[in-house]
Amino acid sequence: MSASKVTEISTSTDEYEFTPTQSWFAINIPYWKSLFPLVASGEPRVLEIGSWEGRSAVFLLTTLCAQRGEIVCIDHVDLMHTHEGRERHRKLTQNLARTGRPFRMLPQFSVPALYALLKEEMLKDAGAGFDWIYVDGSHRADDTLLDAELAWRLAREGCIFIFDDYNWPEQPVESIEHPRRGIDAFLALHAGEYERLSENPEQYQVVLKKTCKMRIGFLLE
Ligand SMILES: C[S@@+](CC[C@H](N)C(=O)[O-])C[C@H]1O[C@@H](n2cnc3c(N)ncnc32)[C@H](O)[C@@H]1O
Repeated sequence: MSASKVTEISTSTDEYEFTPTQSWFAINIPYWKSLFPLVASGEPRVLEIGSWEGRSAVFLLTTLCAQRGEIVCIDHVDLMHTHEGRERHRKLTQNLARTGRPFRMLPQFSVPALYALLKEEMLKDAGAGFDWIYVDGSHRADDTLLDAELAWRLAREGCIFIFDDYNWPEQPVESIEHPRRGIDAFLALHAGEYERLSENPEQYQVVLKKTCKMRIGFLLE
């Protein structure tokens, strides 16, 4: 998609219900916009793992997917067992709906949700896979590695694949409670299958462009 095709419907967040103190995403906007011209599809399919109230998802729907395309969001929202989880689900789905763009929200933990998506995508005759994937769910290294492994199988060749929190300051980077070791393990295992667009390891996000074909890797009986 060329940069000129990306139309901004709205840069205002007034029309959305976001908690002002939970704006972790805005800092990424200029860099993400510079990546849009790399998305080849005129109908970008976006997958997000970890959506909270939908700031990053709303941004992608109203910019990258402003004319065509869609998003699938995965977030456990406490499996709707708590008031807080139900409230987040309400805000998230309401915010996504306000964009007027197509979305789907899977209120599950990422592993079962990604597995369900893999099965669905496998059954498609055409159009399987995603062009932009944002891994921003659990901060644990092992969860991040699992999320990335499953999501990578859903990534089309050329997919922009983004990890958040590579330099998260809340835990030591070597801790299992920090995503860093999971991201590093993924990067080592899949070396040769991507171009690393974020060259500086000091960057908060790791951004890849997938250079190999999509491979779901298993068959349904
Ligand atoms: C940092 S927030 C996402 C922020 C959002 N992408 C944004 O930029 O506004 C992380 C989200 O991941 C969700 N999450 C954490 N672990 C998860 C898991 N294992 N499966 C699904 N969602 C998870 C949390 O519920 C939370 O909403």
